[in-house]
Amino acid sequence: MTATTNRPTNSAVSTNPASSTNSENSAGAASPVSPVDLSSVDLSAMAVATRAIHAGQEPDAATGAVVPPIYMTSTFKQDGVGGLRGGYDYSRSVNPTRDSFDTQLAAIEGARHALAFSSGLAAIDVLLRSTVKPGDRILLGNDVYGGTYRLLSQVFVPWGVGLDVVDMTDLESVSHALESAAYSYVWVETPSNPLLGITDIAATSEVAHRHGAKVVVDNTFASPILQRPLDEGADAVVYSTTKYIGGHSDVVGGAVVLNDDAIRDRVAFLQNAAGAVPSPFDSWLDIRGLKTLDLRVHRHSENALAVATWLQSRPEVERVWYPGLESHPGHDIAARQMRGGFGGMVSIQLASGEDAAKAFAGATSIFTLAESLGGVESLIEHPAAMTHASVSGTTLEVPSNLVRLSVGVEDADDLIADLDAAFARIAR
Ligand SMILES: Cc1ncc(COP(=O)(O)O)c(C=O)c1O
Repeated sequence: MTATTNRPTNSAVSTNPASSTNSENSAGAASPVSPVDLSSVDLSAMAVATRAIHAGQEPDAATGAVVPPIYMTSTFKQDGVGGLRGGYDYSRSVNPTRDSFDTQLAAIEGARHALAFSSGLAAIDVLLRSTVKPGDRILLGNDVYGGTYRLLSQVFVPWGVGLDVVDMTDLESVSHALESAAYSYVWVETPSNPLLGITDIAATSEVAHRHGAKVVVDNTFASPILQRPLDEGADAVVYSTTKYIGGHSDVVGGAVVLNDDAIRDRVAFLQNAAGAVPSPFDSWLDIRGLKTLDLRVHRHSENALAVATWLQSRPEVERVWYPGLESHPGHDIAARQMRGGFGGMVSIQLASGEDAAKAFAGATSIFTLAESLGGVESLIEHPAAMTHASVSGTTLEVPSNLVRLSVGVEDADDLIADLDAAFARIAR
């Protein structure tokens, strides 16, 4: 680093003593060496943790505010009709805070484009609706978020889009399906919700592309810290940013990430035409979440591995689903395709069945009984009755003795003690 002095370099600099010291509130001291503007630094050569904090986050040009202001405005003054400042006209179409999140997320993924949405389902809806038409087909995994299945089966299918369901973790079944019909999209969730199934993204993309299908990966469970599907050959990535990206259970949001310019333009067109945009404040919450995602996701992963390992030793538990365990059928693929951890989600099947599962989900104290996942606080839920009620009676129906844990960033021993106490409580 270049050495700097605090000596004023010209007479225009204030002679107030405070301005020539390192005082944090010094007024107007100019450094003799001009700082390099962040926008001219090539962040793409830097690590994800650095990109997450700096990409799209240049200090405010007018004031130097280190955290760029939230542009809480619906509209923008024009300098004469059509005289837009920086292309900004109306916040459904474009907003600087949303742009800032888009730049940050695209940089983390190493992608050309990211677009923020008002929810994960809005992102999925707009990506698909802008690129499929009646008569097209979608191939879906048999273990996915219930809301994704509800959207496809109850909105897209009545619109005329075909939907087939396959075990997406079984490459042979996927190949067979691709040979028997033409698909526009292969829709992959890995790890899947709620059974933590692992799909080999590279192998699935290779076979899908051979048959003219595009691959979308719902990367919500892994987050861009642990898994980058575009690098593995996928065509697009979607997120519910409500989960790990937001990270604090205080915002609902979504995102689409991709490299294809033409598809990006179609997605952006429909987003503006239909209006599925996040507010500037929600975009800012996602920005703040992305900055600490790297730290949080590693702690989530460590805690989840500790909890899953402990659960494996419990007689009340029939089966533990966690890709970080060697006993998981997708462990080897996950170990290759996920970098630095296996995420914070753990599912268990209880030996005594549905009633025990429901009782256990209601018997913890630190694990809060609630839908959603990916926040700093641990959550517990019964998927069959809660997040996946909409797949009841379908090929996606989840086991009734299943309990899903979103392992937070609390102390792992406290989390295990909470689960231990819950087992004792339901045994009484
Ligand atoms: C894997 C996955 N994808 C998408 C969604 C939908 O996201 P949102 O609730 O933000 O619309 C969820 C929600 O739980 C999810 O778990």
